Amino acid sequence: MSNCNETNLEKSSAEKAKEKWDKYFMNTYAQMPVVIDKGEGATVVDVDGKKYIDFTSGYGASSLGYNNEKLVKALQEQVSKITHVSNLFFSQSIIDAGEKLIKASKMSKVFFINSGSEATELAMKIARKYSSQKYGENRGTILSLRDSFHGRTMMALMATGVDKYHKYFYPLPEGFKYTEKNNIEDFKKVLEDKSICAVLMEPIQGEGGVHVLEEDYLKEVIKICHDKDILVIFDEVQCGIGRSGKLFAYNHYNLQPDILAIAKGIGAGIPVSGVLTNEKTSSVLKPGDHGSTFGGNILAMTAVSVVLDEIEAPGFYEEVEAKGKYIMNYIKNLNSEKVVEVRGKGLMIGVELNINASDIIDKCVEDGVLFVKTGENVIRMLPPLVITYDEINKGLEVLKKYL
Ligand SMILES: Cc1ncc(COP(=O)(O)O)c(C=O)c1O
Repeated sequence: MSNCNETNLEKSSAEKAKEKWDKYFMNTYAQMPVVIDKGEGATVVDVDGKKYIDFTSGYGASSLGYNNEKLVKALQEQVSKITHVSNLFFSQSIIDAGEKLIKASKMSKVFFINSGSEATELAMKIARKYSSQKYGENRGTILSLRDSFHGRTMMALMATGVDKYHKYFYPLPEGFKYTEKNNIEDFKKVLEDKSICAVLMEPIQGEGGVHVLEEDYLKEVIKICHDKDILVIFDEVQCGIGRSGKLFAYNHYNLQPDILAIAKGIGAGIPVSGVLTNEKTSSVLKPGDHGSTFGGNILAMTAVSVVLDEIEAPGFYEEVEAKGKYIMNYIKNLNSEKVVEVRGKGLMIGVELNINASDIIDKCVEDGVLFVKTGENVIRMLPPLVITYDEINKGLEVLKKYL
């Protein structure tokens, strides 16, 4: 027993956590060797007091950073009153959050749920119901892009246009097709299949390597879909909620989807997602068609209201855009031989390398800066939207060392 304790003393906090993780948890993640305890702004602190500048923000979820004063106060007040109100009743929080979201988004209605996968799943359910009511049962195929990512539930998994995610989970749900991004000819060809009811796209692909879809492509897609009464679903789970420097990434192009899936940043770290519909799709769901025990949870709704108040404040989006440009220019100006391309919008940035991104990311972690990898060779940056220039500069100084 004492021997075991002695060995334990020599181990780092991360090693000890990993040992327990391997014992008690299913093995699906490859964590960095950091045990996070708390945070402030865009900086997190591990259990040993070491600080890290966080360019990951929980895959973009912690949009307001850590220990945000307004969020903490609102949540604390709510926790001490009541933590959950089911959809058997109203709460003022859900009314406020929904009203703010609809007014800001210029969509018509919202349904709140809990995760990004549930949001894309519900978006597809709405599209299928819309189509089956109008055109019958044989028009329910969802068309999505190769290299996309839409989540891990069975339908969201199938909409994700990467074969490796489908493998082993047989039988796979039917009714999915894929097309190449930014390739309008391929898109038109796939649409010869008359069973397609909706097109699902991330205006900026996140997991796929931070690829911004071209404006002309998106406009043409919307036009064609509109003519054929095929619904356009945008998945802004990662690129939405101010991340790109506008409320939604599609706002850069003055477009509007029929159905919109959001999650991550809208809860600033509290799990919440939503599906927003336009005039055409708002009355598709009828009583009993969908539901969620925790959907519209009162703590989540409290967070949604704070997030919208913060990001819709004058000048917020401009700041995000300016910081993003600053980061991208900084990296481009390094003229590093290891950098193939710097791309993105706002604070959603991909740095494609000609080496494995882990080689750089692992060194940065040791130096107190956190980045997340996507694919083999892209460093992805999704810092809290409130990251300061001081934090940005400190983080970039470290990155520069290894680029
Ligand atoms: C674009 C997009 N859609 C959907 C999802 C799934 O979200 P969740 O992990 O909350 O289910 C993600 C997650 O990364 C995502 O990036």
